[in-house]
Amino acid sequence: MFMRLPTYRSRRVYTMPDHEDIYTALNRNIPLKEKLVCTHEAIKQLFPCIARIAVAIYDPDTNVLKTYLHSSGDTNPLENYQALLDDAPSLKAIFRQGRPRVINNMLTFENPEHEHTRRIGRAGYAASYTMPMFNNGVFFGFVFFNAFETDAFTPEVLHELDPIGHMISLMLINELESVHTLSAAIRTTGHITHLRDPETGSHMDRMSRFSRLIAASLAGEYALDDDYIEHIFMFSPLHDIGKIGIPDRILLKPGKLTEQETRVMHTHTSVGREIIDDLLANFALDNLAHADVLRNIAAYHHEAVNGSGYPEGRSGNQIPLEARIVAVADVFDALTSRRVYKEAWSNERAFEALKELAGQKLDSKCVDALIENRDEVEKIQQQFKEDSIG
Ligand code: C2E
Ligand code: SIN
Ligand code: SIN
Ligand code: FE
Ligand code: FE
Repeated sequence: MFMRLPTYRSRRVYTMPDHEDIYTALNRNIPLKEKLVCTHEAIKQLFPCIARIAVAIYDPDTNVLKTYLHSSGDTNPLENYQALLDDAPSLKAIFRQGRPRVINNMLTFENPEHEHTRRIGRAGYAASYTMPMFNNGVFFGFVFFNAFETDAFTPEVLHELDPIGHMISLMLINELESVHTLSAAIRTTGHITHLRDPETGSHMDRMSRFSRLIAASLAGEYALDDDYIEHIFMFSPLHDIGKIGIPDRILLKPGKLTEQETRVMHTHTSVGREIIDDLLANFALDNLAHADVLRNIAAYHHEAVNGSGYPEGRSGNQIPLEARIVAVADVFDALTSRRVYKEAWSNERAFEALKELAGQKLDSKCVDALIENRDEVEKIQQQFKEDSIG
């Protein structure tokens, strides 16, 4: 016997009750951080007791677990905090077993061994729900839900939170894939550029590490987080991508450039910015975190703190920090390298030149940060000697 299937004619159209999708914000093209905040707002409509959502990412190469995103505004008790997963035995158990954990009374951790537990406790959170995140069976981090009330995570609450935890995990996978795609695009573009850029691959290796060294050394003073510093490292090799648009007779000229040629040469900053905008649009990555760091590096690495640079003649702090950092790394490596138009200078002579340029063309603090780390600078130079690509 076949069941009688309803025909279109017999189908009734129900009018929906007025319904508002509390997750509508997730449809928008906004950074992941804002999506997490929106998700948190939506959850609070259902369960006002959920006071915090945080995401930590695990790096299997280093065993490091880093707090990556959180929804709790500026009151994140784990800012700049990272730990080895091996040092957090109870978190390690969650990932080993592949099962979430409920703590309905954090006070049961009477003498927490771990800094992260102490910080969460000090912030007043009394209960937590921790879900491990997996992508095709591979562990990549945790989602944490925290509440101020003890016993907040009842079976009913957990039943609703589980799909939300998985949704957050999927949003994160999406973002991490984008970063992966962009860095692949960057590597490929770098290859193509080097087919005719006289600057070598080892110049990129060195100047990106000088840039990271300067940024890390300014981190305390400017409250720079690891994520920003890593992005400077990742993006700085693209600073001269706009040289793709400069004709060979100028780019490869073995002598000094004329005034007219210099004007053409200077367009490499604006051209670079256009290429990057193109890259981000073509890969649909325009909402990527720190995309502006990439743009700023390409556009403003030849601005001067006294306003005499190009393309816009910005001065001082109007020049984004990432561009001021990369400028110092770039000039230092240009001076200590051989170019078609000049011989390589000694470090001694280059440092003297940087000191003279400090406060004029270059940011003094960035210059000091490089000079103060001379040992590190020399290590980088040892490790990445001139290669034959150029
Ligand atoms: P680049 O070779 O990567 O140099 C980057 C920056 O390092 C230069 O920016 C400049 O600030 C500094 N720099 C490099 N060599 C010297 C030097 O011998 N003395 C001093 N005081 N500073 C130096 P700038 O000047 O805006 O130049 C941008 C790009 O234009 C250079 O990138 C290079 O590709 C090209 N360029 C500049 N001058 C010449 C030149 O005389 N001949 C040729 N063929 N290209 C040049
Ligand atoms: C944890 O590792 O998550 C808590 C254990 C502790 O801090 O003692
Ligand atoms: C966190 O909430 O970010 C980690 C602390 C924990 O619940 O173990
Ligand atoms: Fe440049
Ligand atoms: Fe350069």
